[in-house]
Amino acid sequence: MGVEKIRVIGGRPLRGEVNIYGGKNAALAVIPAALLTDDVCVIENVPNMDDIRIIKLMLQELGADVVLKDNVMTVCAAGVRDKQPSAQLAKMIRGSFYFLGALLGRRGYASVAMPGGCKIGERKIDQHVKGFEALGAVVQEDAEAVHARADKLVGTEIYLDMPSVGATVNLMLAAATAQGNTEIINAAKEPHIVDLANMLNSMGARVRGAGTDIIRIRGTNHLHGCNYSVIPDQIETGTYMIAAAGAGGDITIHGAIPVHLDALSAKLLEMGVRVYEGDDMIRVVSQGRLRAVSVQTMPYPGFPTDLQQPLSALLTTAQGVSEINETIFDNRHCHIAELIKMGANATVQGRVATITGVESLHGADVVATDLRAGAAMVIAGLMAKGETTIGNVHYIDRGYERFEEKLRALGADICRIHE
Ligand code: EPZ
Repeated sequence: MGVEKIRVIGGRPLRGEVNIYGGKNAALAVIPAALLTDDVCVIENVPNMDDIRIIKLMLQELGADVVLKDNVMTVCAAGVRDKQPSAQLAKMIRGSFYFLGALLGRRGYASVAMPGGCKIGERKIDQHVKGFEALGAVVQEDAEAVHARADKLVGTEIYLDMPSVGATVNLMLAAATAQGNTEIINAAKEPHIVDLANMLNSMGARVRGAGTDIIRIRGTNHLHGCNYSVIPDQIETGTYMIAAAGAGGDITIHGAIPVHLDALSAKLLEMGVRVYEGDDMIRVVSQGRLRAVSVQTMPYPGFPTDLQQPLSALLTTAQGVSEINETIFDNRHCHIAELIKMGANATVQGRVATITGVESLHGADVVATDLRAGAAMVIAGLMAKGETTIGNVHYIDRGYERFEEKLRALGADICRIHE
């Protein structure tokens, strides 16, 4: 068995229809909520990808019954007693850290290894810790893990220094079964925060205000099972929109929530791409050379950091000079060096990438430096003349289900090879 790579022969326009899976980051937030009840939770529209398979293994390690079949995950946590998630699994993904909030809420104690996830800059956890402590937990960190313990969690006001997605999720999970009322001020507003609130409410929790700056949670000591369906993946949707804009053509994306992509649609329109929206569909039509734009990543509803890298691939051939200012993470431009191997004219200074559009990219042997960088390289490969091979495909497999298959159905010349 050799090294797995993705091979793309560029220059083919994308045409046709594509369906979107459930959100990776939404599922990673929603699934741990099932630890807050002994009843069965049936979670539909769960994408089948590496990050989710790791969360499934972590739940099983704790003693939960979990089945993932046809994008439906059934979780029964009745068998979860005093085990802790193993460091080996927890270190593989970021979402593992949500087990701290969920287990704290379930049984008052948890030890979870420092989470892994993409290497895109410093990813601190101080806001999570501050929030757990405000709820009454004693939190200690050592070289192995973060340990949290509380005789009882008591609702309180928690101000986040920045609208951290992870801290908001973790604190919602812990506060759902706390005594009394919790207010998370300056909360994240991403679509998956609203999704977690909806999941918790369908389990009998009382969460209000998700999607605004202040989330109010009235704790309850009994949550029950539920049937819940995860929202469509905003970033997968955006990735296909950018792919069609870059390769040219005319695609219709079904099962998406257009309003979640407003920031991207606005930028694509500014570049000269045509974007049409329906209730749960987005059509993207693109031809000819696009115009450069400047983008600053922001918390939702601003331009998502997770689409910054795919967009930068598109900007490599846009006419004029584009600037991408990454304000969320301090090291999310590693893929630019790979784009340069394909002929891009780009420089990085600190958090800002400056891209001067060239006529065209050419194929090259490149690597995915992280998950969304991998998506960016695939998009660059679709745009380029000739053959591109992309290494480190395991990053891409963390967050995209059937990526090559779906692109092939749209007319791309893309496959997985073993070298
Ligand atoms: C989530 O990461 C996503 N991961 C990321 O998706 C996404 O890029 C990010 O939110 C922003 O939208 C998951 O949902 C599993 P944050 P998270 O806490 O929770 C600082 C992808 O490609 N911060 O909002 O780690 C932190 O250092 C990925 O799918 C603190 O300082 O993001 C960062 O600069 C990658 N202290 C910023 O806030 C804290 O306690 C945003 O982090 C927490 C965060």
